[in-house]
Amino acid sequence: MRHVKSNSFAARITGTGSAFPKNRVTNDDIVKKLQASGIETSDRWIRERTGIRERRIADIENPAEHNSSLGLAAAKKALDMAGKTEKDIDQILYATCTPDTLVPSTACWLQHKIGASQAWAMDINAACSGLIYAVATAKQFIQTGQVKTSLVIGADLLSPFTNWQDRGSCILFGDAAGALVIEREAADSKHQILSCHMLSNGNLWELFYIPAGGSSMEVTPGRYSKNLHKMRMYGKEIFKVAVRTLVDFAQQALAENKIDIRELDWFVPHQANLRIIEAVADRLKFPMEKVLINVDKYGNTSSATIPSVLDEAVRDGRIKNGQTILLDAFGAGLTYGAILLRW
Ligand code: ACO
Repeated sequence: MRHVKSNSFAARITGTGSAFPKNRVTNDDIVKKLQASGIETSDRWIRERTGIRERRIADIENPAEHNSSLGLAAAKKALDMAGKTEKDIDQILYATCTPDTLVPSTACWLQHKIGASQAWAMDINAACSGLIYAVATAKQFIQTGQVKTSLVIGADLLSPFTNWQDRGSCILFGDAAGALVIEREAADSKHQILSCHMLSNGNLWELFYIPAGGSSMEVTPGRYSKNLHKMRMYGKEIFKVAVRTLVDFAQQALAENKIDIRELDWFVPHQANLRIIEAVADRLKFPMEKVLINVDKYGNTSSATIPSVLDEAVRDGRIKNGQTILLDAFGAGLTYGAILLRW
């Protein structure tokens, strides 16, 4: 989608929040779990190939750790930062590929839990690019004047869909939620989302997918025993596409805004693998000191990586008013997208 400059208003992020399950799972915990099934891995392999040291895994028997409950905790923090209450929310956009239930949407579960009675709510599934697609959607509604305050959530629980017999994928993922409050701003404001750039390539669906559990394939006992309700991933191929597209989308966003990469204060890539991030920074000739990272602590939390790492940097004071920030993601689908903004 090409960016079209227009309209009466701008959109600005005014609040951030994040939430994580309690259970911290280290690489050594995974080593032990896999060893019990006769599968070899090591803390060293995981750290060297991915940069991940630990991740959080939700207890889905505990309602407080359902996707929408983590979304709720993150949303409350973001609303608090923005100085808003649930009554101010006009729209809830919930980026997730791991909904609480297929119906109703996780956005409606969150609306129910938070009591946002004035809002309309829907899910957006673009996997790990979900947050980018949801922010872009919020921006459109805000800039045309239809929405004043949007609550955007990026939250995923990939652990229930993880195949613990597959050492190539089970080491990568964690569960988390991130939230952003996005508000209407004067069109000429210095603080605004400048542009959004998205593209999908459904031809590459096979690189990451979950065969069963949707309407095209019921989970039967036979399919269950074959783990068809768990993720299938071709990591090496995704790695190559990810590096290429993250670079392409970063360059596209900068070029359209006529911003030199040296003017960028922070680069916020999707946190899938530290080696992917380092390869992208290297190709962009951008210093790693100005790249936000939390993959070491949380693994790949899908649509939650970008809002959660942003939240951390806003709260510890690294992100300051007026800074130029580039968000950049890729995900299953495949989906790609970048957003350039002035904080
Ligand atoms: N422990 C030890 N050895 C392992 C492990 C493990 N956990 N996993 C794989 N290996 C082995 C392989 O079997 C292979 O052995 P071989 O050479 O004897 O065949 C060797 O390590 C190298 O395997 P590769 O797959 O080539 O390893 P690579 O360096 O590519 O790292 C990884 C694999 C970490 C999966 C990487 O490719 C990656 O991060 N890809 C991106 C994945 C991704 O981003 N997924 C997100 C999908 S998007 C979404 O929307 C959710």
